[in-house]
Order: sequence, then C-alpha cells, then structure tokens
Amino acid sequence: MTVDALPSPVRPSSGARLAVYPGSFDPIHNGHVDIILRGARLFDRIVVAVSRNAEKAPLFSVEERIELMREVFRDQPNVEVEAFDGLLVDYARHKHASVIVRGLRAVSDFEFEFQMALMNRRLSPEIETVFMMPAERYTYTSSRLVKEVFSLGGVVNGLVPEAVEGRLREKRSGGQA
Ligand code: PNS
Repeated sequence: MTVDALPSPVRPSSGARLAVYPGSFDPIHNGHVDIILRGARLFDRIVVAVSRNAEKAPLFSVEERIELMREVFRDQPNVEVEAFDGLLVDYARHKHASVIVRGLRAVSDFEFEFQMALMNRRLSPEIETVFMMPAERYTYTSSRLVKEVFSLGGVVNGLVPEAVEGRLREKRSGGQA
C-alpha cells in the first residue's frame, strides 16, 4: 500500500493530544457545547479558541464570550477557553495542538468547512481538521438565529446554556439586545 509521506503530528512534550475548537461563539449555543463535550472525551485537552478578528459588530465582546464559556465549562477540567488573533494554524502550532475540531451540522456547512480545512492543511500540513456532528436536535441551531429569535422576543430556552440566556436578558433590559 502506498500513501503520501505525512508530516509527524504536533505533540506537546507531555505527549498529550490537544485539539483546538475555534469559532466566533457570539454567543455559544448548545450545539457548540455538544461538540466541545464530545471533543473533551476524544482528546486529552480541548481549547475553545475565540477569534478576535471574526465579527465586525458582535453582540458579546470577546471577553464576555470567554467569561460565559468558562462558566459553562467550569466543571470540565480538560476544557480551556482562550482568545486568539491572526491565523488559526499559527495559534494551533503555538499551542502544540495536533487537531482542529470543527462542527458539521448539515451539508450546507460543508463547502465552507472543506475550503477552510484544505487551506489550513496547505498552511500547516501537520495539523489535521476533524469534523464532528452535534446531536440531531442542534442541527438547525446557530448563533445568528439565536440572536435574531431572542431580539424579536422568541424563546431560546434549550438552545443556549442558562448563563447565556441570562446574559441575553441582561443585554435586552440594558437596551442592547
Ligand atoms: O464560528 P465561525 O465564524 O465559523 O469561525 C470561523 C473561524 C474563526 C474559525 C475562522 O474564520 C478562522 O479560522 N479565523 C482565523 C483566521 C484564519 O486562520 N483564517 C484562514 C482560515 S482558512
């Protein structure tokens, strides 16, 4: 059997297998939580990495998003939450991560995800992108729809962690959502 020569995967000196799960998370919803918990079972550590350069007019600041996610995962010792700037692969290399995790909800996600994964592979062949599917009940959930439904008075209970729902309500009573 012949295969292309593959670069050795990145590993920290501890030998632990680390995955990075990047995104905007504005805000985190239960589909993200589902993927993170699945990832936390597969990898020794999973770093949820909030992009600082993703959205132009976010509802939550990067610091608010990080604070919310740290609260959600406070009982998961192998889940960390951080912000990152610049290229994702540079950040992943800096963390000694061998894997980038991305969620795939439906075929509509695939084209963009495929492009990103191949571009990231071109930039950094030693890092693999691993796609994970959330539970079926989250396949239609997105941060954009959660924000839209909430801002128009709809119920988002069950779609986002309680901490996020509370913070959305605070924003609305402060006139921001
Ligand atoms: O939650 P999102 O908006 O789908 O996340 C997209 C994100 C932040 C993962 C992507 O835009 C990204 O990786 N940004 C960092 C800059 C970068 O590396 N761009 C080239 C990716 S091919």
